[in-house]
Amino acid sequence: MCSPDFFDIEYEINPWMSTDNQVDPKLAKRQWQELYHTYTEKLGWEVDLVTPVKNLPDMVFTANGALVIDGKVALPTFRAPDRQPETGHFKKWFEDNGYKDFLQPKYDFEGEGDALVWNDTVFTGYPWRSDKASENELKAFFGKRVVGLQLTDARFYHLDTALTIVDQETVAIYPPLFTDESRKTLHELVPHVIEASKADAYAYGLNAMSDGNNIVLSDRATGLIAQYKKRGMSVYPVPISEFQKSGGGVKCLTLELRA
Ligand code: ARG
Repeated sequence: MCSPDFFDIEYEINPWMSTDNQVDPKLAKRQWQELYHTYTEKLGWEVDLVTPVKNLPDMVFTANGALVIDGKVALPTFRAPDRQPETGHFKKWFEDNGYKDFLQPKYDFEGEGDALVWNDTVFTGYPWRSDKASENELKAFFGKRVVGLQLTDARFYHLDTALTIVDQETVAIYPPLFTDESRKTLHELVPHVIEASKADAYAYGLNAMSDGNNIVLSDRATGLIAQYKKRGMSVYPVPISEFQKSGGGVKCLTLELRA
């Protein structure tokens, strides 16, 4: 994770962002701390921190900082020019922490924001912020099956805003956010596909972190919260209003380090 010390809206690179709709820095800090506290204290998850950098307000969204599988690191090749300087800072963190195997994709690829790992498969999202062509680079680098999913709505521009990996047999989606073909692919591959309501999708409830038993998500996604509870999961609702002004939520604020 990355503390929101320099988080604000300095440019507009997705439909949620407006320089006229500024974040409340104190509230953003409180919300971020609540997420950090939920991970570390309530769930006992280990969290490392990358140092925030002035004038890189979106560095707080570490999901875009890489995709890490088996200790191998695919760095982001940001489509958004404003975010391109982040890559070097993320790379430095990985180097300082002993990671050695890097891929710098030739095609646009915005890290875990557009690449969600489900068992031995990586689901990738396009076309808004990552190129479909980056799929082959990821396939060759990680040696995993990579399945591209086409997103339909600019407000849900990263895959992690439209799809949650819930457990080894389950994902959650808001169906209209995918083309018919991509939705069909998901149903063919994944045994259980939970459907979120439009309201929950717009509350960024799909931008969630799950370990299969525990799930952390936006406190306004009341329908999903009820569905997860009914499945017997432990649910941790958190406020994310300030980050949603930038088009981000729980998952965007979190990068998973897989060994
Ligand atoms: N303002 C950021 C951007 O548009 C938000 C990133 C959200 N990250 C994510 N993984 N969906 O790039």
